[in-house]
Amino acid sequence: MSSVRRRIIVTGGAGFLGSHLCERLIGGGADVLCVDNYFTGRKENVASLLPLPQFEAMRHDITHPLFVEVDEIYNLACPASPIHYQFDPVQTTKTSVIGAINMLGLAKRLKARIFQASTSEVYGDPNLHPQPESYRGNVNPIGPRACYDEGKRCAETLFFDYFRQHQLKIRVARIFNTYGPRMHPNDGRVVSNFIVQALRGAPITLYGDGTQTRAFCYVDDLVDGFVKLMAAPDTITGPINLGNPVETSIVELAGLVIELTGSRSKIVPRSLPVDDPVQRCPDITEAERILG
Ligand SMILES: NC(=O)c1ccc[n+]([C@@H]2O[C@H](COP(=O)([O-])OP(=O)(O)OC[C@H]3O[C@@H](n4cnc5c(N)ncnc54)[C@H](O)[C@@H]3O)[C@@H](O)[C@H]2O)c1
Repeated sequence: MSSVRRRIIVTGGAGFLGSHLCERLIGGGADVLCVDNYFTGRKENVASLLPLPQFEAMRHDITHPLFVEVDEIYNLACPASPIHYQFDPVQTTKTSVIGAINMLGLAKRLKARIFQASTSEVYGDPNLHPQPESYRGNVNPIGPRACYDEGKRCAETLFFDYFRQHQLKIRVARIFNTYGPRMHPNDGRVVSNFIVQALRGAPITLYGDGTQTRAFCYVDDLVDGFVKLMAAPDTITGPINLGNPVETSIVELAGLVIELTGSRSKIVPRSLPVDDPVQRCPDITEAERILG
C-alpha cells in the first residue's frame, strides 16, 4: 500500500486564518477537511481549493458533535472580531466552549493531536508588558468582550483538563493581532478598517488618541507557527504566544496606511470602546526557543 496521507480537520477553515492554514496543509501533502458554518467565513476564501481532490468543505456548526475520521484537528472556529463576536454573544461562548468539548471529544476518540486557536484576549487589558504566557490576565468577566475572552479562557481550561485527565495531545497557541489578505473588509479590525477607509477616501476613524499600541503579525508567519507547533514533540502543549513583538501605535498605523495608499482621507477621532486594551504586545521568548 502506498504511504497514507495525513487527514486533517480545520474548523473555521473558510475564515481568514483558516483558509491560509488549509492552503499550507495541502501544500505540505495533507488531505484537509474544512469545517465551517460560514458565520464570518466565506466560500470565496477557499474557492481555489474546492476543485482539489485533497480538499473537502463541510458546512457544520461545531456546537454540534461531529463524527469523522482524521489524524489531526486544528480548532479555529470562532468569530474573531469584536463586531462579529458581539453580534450573538451567547453563540460566541457556545462556539468556544461547547465547540471545544465536541472537538476534544473527537480527538479523544481518535487519539488525534488537537490544536486550539486561543488568543491574546485571554490577557484582557493587561497590566504587564509584554505579556508572557505565565501572565494570568486582567479580564472583565461581565463586559461586552467577555463572551470571547472568557469563552477562550474556558476553552483553554478544557484543553488542559483533557490533557491531564485523558492524556490528549494538545497544542494551545495564543494568537496576537494578525493581518493579511482575506481579512473581512467590514469586521472592524484596525488594519482592514484603515485600509478600506483609505481606499474609499472616507474618514479614518481613530479610537481614543491613537497612542494605544498593537503588534501586528503577517498571516504567513503566523501559519508557520501553527504548523511548527503541531509538529513539535507531544511534551510541548503550550500555551504559547504567537505574534510579532514589534509595537506600532494606532496613529502611526493610520499615517502609514494613508501614505501607502496615497489617500486623501483625514483622521477623525472617536471615543475608545469599553474594555479596549491600551497596549498589547507578545513576549515570544517561548516561541523563539521552542519553534525557532
Ligand atoms: N486574526 C487574528 O488576529 C486572531 C487573533 C487571535 C485569535 N484568533 C483566533 O483565530 C481563529 C480564526 O480567526 P480569524 O481571524 O480567521 O476569524 P474569522 O472570523 O475569519 O474565522 C473564523 C471562522 O470560524 C467560523 N465559525 C464561527 N463559528 C463557528 C461555528 N460555531 N462552527 C463552525 N464554524 C464557525 C466562521 O464562519 C469563520 O470561517 C479564531 O478562533 C480566533 O479567535 C485570531
